[in-house]
Amino acid sequence: MTKGKVDALLGIVFGDEGKGKVVDYFTPRYDLVARFAGGPNAGHTIIFDDKKFVLRSIPSGIFDEGKTNIIGNGCVIAPDLFMYEARELEVAGYEVVQRLHISRRAHLILPTHRVLDRAYEAAKGEGKVGTTGKGIGPTYSDKAARVGLRVGDIQGDFIPKYEALKARHLQILSDLGFTDFDITDEEKTWLEGIDYMRRFPLTDTEHEINQALAAGKNVLAEGAQGSLLDIDHGTYPFVSSSSTTVGGVCTGLGIAPQNIGRVWGIFKAYSTRVGSGPFPVELFDETGEEIRRVGKEFGAVTGRNRRCGWVDLVALKYAIMVNGVTDLVMMKADVLDSFKEIKVCVAYEKDGERTESMPYDTEGWAPVYETLPGWNCDLTGVRAEADFPKEYADYIAYLEKQLATPISILSVGPERDATIIR
Ligand code: IMP
Repeated sequence: MTKGKVDALLGIVFGDEGKGKVVDYFTPRYDLVARFAGGPNAGHTIIFDDKKFVLRSIPSGIFDEGKTNIIGNGCVIAPDLFMYEARELEVAGYEVVQRLHISRRAHLILPTHRVLDRAYEAAKGEGKVGTTGKGIGPTYSDKAARVGLRVGDIQGDFIPKYEALKARHLQILSDLGFTDFDITDEEKTWLEGIDYMRRFPLTDTEHEINQALAAGKNVLAEGAQGSLLDIDHGTYPFVSSSSTTVGGVCTGLGIAPQNIGRVWGIFKAYSTRVGSGPFPVELFDETGEEIRRVGKEFGAVTGRNRRCGWVDLVALKYAIMVNGVTDLVMMKADVLDSFKEIKVCVAYEKDGERTESMPYDTEGWAPVYETLPGWNCDLTGVRAEADFPKEYADYIAYLEKQLATPISILSVGPERDATIIR
């Protein structure tokens, strides 16, 4: 943990790497915890003291007294969903309002953005992205088109602005022939959410963060989604609409690159993807089923089945490169406990061509595997490196060599203490 720096905790594949599990380890070590990109498309499941919370927009430092949590300018926020999320925490006894500061530059997700999300997906038919339906793409589109509404707008004469953007959306929906919807109830709750949000400190968070850094405090930038869902570096167009990679930490919080300290890249000992888009390592057989079943690979937000496969070094090397990952965090190796052999995708192949670096389009590429022996025993009780089964230790060493990056944290089970710091 670097004093006076922003450390980034990033999912480096397709999201769902299990950030919620390791924030437990991370958040107590930081003064500020900030979200820099995305919105309620994220779902970080936090489990402690027999309680379970799914955080969508709120940073995971919210449970700690005395910690400042920030929703940064790079985020998009749905007032109604935010209200539900925050109220649940309030009901559970957490003092949310004073611990959470929201950037006035963050953009608002309108009910009609969600309808547009559905309409655009329907129009794409077979080529749909498989979005979470939370209005993420249309909100970031409006931001880039310079017509979006920002959190700061709710501090002024908001309703005329809201009505104007809504009218624009209704026109687009009518042009698309997408008219079978009714947002009356949703809009009521959404406006209630706007009022609720006014109770929170709506601030210029870039100043707060930079002042904190100047005072020697440290900041954890909590990523959402994953590097391969990044609008620039992901598997476009099957991506989310924000910058989920480390560059997004700078633009999404208003900090300079030299303020970035360590970059923690989280990945699973296998691969998953939710939604559409190319996924060369996807398994359609019993092995894929087994990984899904044992790993409980169903989406936290949408409940959809996640597509499963072996770990993909092409993807990981790419993500390590674009993020400058300094430390890796490997999750859920215990899901592979029952496999006699473990495969690792070391390259892609297409039409006799082989590549180890991420191609422009991963569609149609087949994985090239190397096979390693499985450890074939229960890892969940292991806490010390000296007790690692040889095959597991070899798997770690193999990955570290291939990826030229240390795996500094290992998670071997869902329990809080099933985390090994090296
Ligand atoms: P959107 O972010 O809702 O627009 O969805 C775009 C793509 O990103 C879809 O394939 C989603 O399934 C995927 N996606 C968005 N958020 C997450 C996440 O938190 N975890 C995993 N996949 C996500």
